[in-house]
Order: sequence, then structure tokens, then C-alpha cells
Amino acid sequence: MSGIRKIFSASLTIKAVVMASIQKNNRVKAPLIVVLILCVFIVLILASFPNRAGADHQDNEISRRAFTESGKVLFHPRCANCHPAGNTPLIRDDSQPHMFNVQRGAEGKGAGEMKCTLCHRDTNQPDGPPGVPNWHMPPENMPMVFQGRTPGDLCRQLKDPKQNGGRTGEQIINHIEKDPLVLWAWNPGQGRTVPKMSHEEFSAKMHEWLRKGEACPE
Ligand code: HEC
Ligand code: HEC
Repeated sequence: MSGIRKIFSASLTIKAVVMASIQKNNRVKAPLIVVLILCVFIVLILASFPNRAGADHQDNEISRRAFTESGKVLFHPRCANCHPAGNTPLIRDDSQPHMFNVQRGAEGKGAGEMKCTLCHRDTNQPDGPPGVPNWHMPPENMPMVFQGRTPGDLCRQLKDPKQNGGRTGEQIINHIEKDPLVLWAWNPGQGRTVPKMSHEEFSAKMHEWLRKGEACPE
């Protein structure tokens, strides 16, 4: 009897010790597991930082490149001639000052009698002035100069509400896609060159510039 009781009590003791150790282990393990999970999270979070920075960096690169390439159009004389540094619009591929001493005027529609639409009509005139309805240049208080800007300068200028008439990137792109003055550059009338890049490709590049974060070249 006593032998059996001894074995019984011994087994109880073992059981108790095992239980205790399991509990103790659990108690030890529980925080350990929490710490481990935290570590995994921290590692994951840390690992994602360089990735995100990498992705941002990549997006910036794509955005910058898209803008630089759009410069082929923006700085083309068909565009830049209406976006001159001075108050005289420019003509032809060498961007010489407009003849007849044509001036911008406060609203960009010409000064005095020399209104743009006096000569520029709703369509291109063969061997005469080119035209789309409401032919004019940007106004005096918001001249939107492209001539002589670097791609980086122009990019920052387009983003500056004080220099872009308070337009958002979306609005600028909308303008680029739909404004007849812009579209005219690909249909400028006989004897005038057009930008090397199509309007479609140009729009796509500007969209990419916007989508990838409006990053500017140096
Ligand atoms: C007295 C007539 C006359 C007036 C006024 C006039 N233009 Fe012109 N413009 C012309 C003629 C003609 C041409 C074509 C010149 C050529 O291609 O050799 C021309 C060409 C241009 C071009 C050249 C397009 C290119 O890329 O080669 C621009 C830009 C232009 N005018 C802008 C204006 C603006 C802006 C105004 C008003 C502020 C204006 N013009 C007023 C007659 C005029
Ligand atoms: C006949 C003149 C004329 C021509 C040609 C022209 N523009 Fe413009 N552009 C303007 C005027 C005027 C504005 C101001 C728009 C307004 O206030 O409605 C403008 C505004 C812009 C703006 C907005 C600028 C800003 O700071 O938000 C962009 C971008 C632009 N033009 C791009 C172009 C491109 C690209 C071309 C050639 C493909 C072009 N323009 C050709 C007259 C012209």
C-alpha cells in the first residue's frame, strides 16, 4: 500500500512540477513571444523604410525624367514663341521678335490698335498669320515665361501658384490637353515646324510627371 501511495504521490509531485514548469515556462514564454513578435514587426517596419524611400526615389526619378522629356515640347518655338521672356511675342524657329513691334498689353491681347486678333483669325491663313480663336499670350501680371528657363526652373514655376495663376497640376495638364492654343502647335500652318514629340506622348509624359509626384529636374 505504502509503495503504491509513494508512487502515486511521486507521480503527483512530478505532475505538479511539470505543470508548474509549464506554467512558469508559459509565463516566461508569453513575454518572450510578445517580444519576438515585436521584433518581427520592428524588423518588418525597418525593412519597409528603405523600400519606401527606394520607391519614392524611383518615382522621383521617373517624374523628373518625364518633365525633362516634356521640355522637347515646352521649349519648342511653337510653344515658347507665345511664352517669351519679354513683352514682344516671338516668331519662327529662331524666335526673333514679332514684326510690327507687337506688344503683349496688360491682358496679353496686344497693345493699342495692335490687337492680336486684328491679324490672327480663327484659322491659319496661308502665307499669313497663324490662328485659332482668341489668339493671345499670357497677361502682363502672369507672363508664364518659358523662354530661357532651364527645365528645372520651368518645372518649379509651373508648380508655383503665384506664377501659374493658382492652377493645380491637374488644371495645368487639363490645359495642356485641351487648350486650342496648345493644340495649335501640332497644326501651325504651312511652313512651320512642329514639336518632335506627338501631342499624345507629351500629354502622357505630363501625366506621368504629375502621377509620380511632380518632381523637378535640378
Ligand atoms: C499686324 C498683324 C499682327 C498682329 C497685330 C499680331 N500678329 Fe502675330 N503674326 C502676324 C503674322 C503675319 C505672323 C506670321 C509671321 C511668320 O510666320 O513669318 C505672326 C506670327 C505670330 C507668331 C508666330 C508663331 C510661330 O511660332 O512662328 C506668334 C507667337 C504670334 N504671331 C503672336 C502674336 C500675339 C500674341 C499677338 C498679340 C499680342 C500678335 N501676334 C499680334 C501678324 C500679327
Ligand atoms: C498663341 C499663344 C500660345 C501658344 C502658341 C501656346 N501658349 Fe501656352 N499659354 C498661352 C496663354 C495665353 C496662356 C495663359 C492661359 C490662360 O490664362 O488661359 C498659356 C498658358 C500655358 C500654360 C499654363 C502655364 C502655367 O504656368 O500654368 C502651359 C503649361 C502652357 N501654356 C503650355 C503651352 C505649350 C506646351 C504650348 C505648345 C504646345 C503652348 N503653351 C503654346 C498662350 C499660348
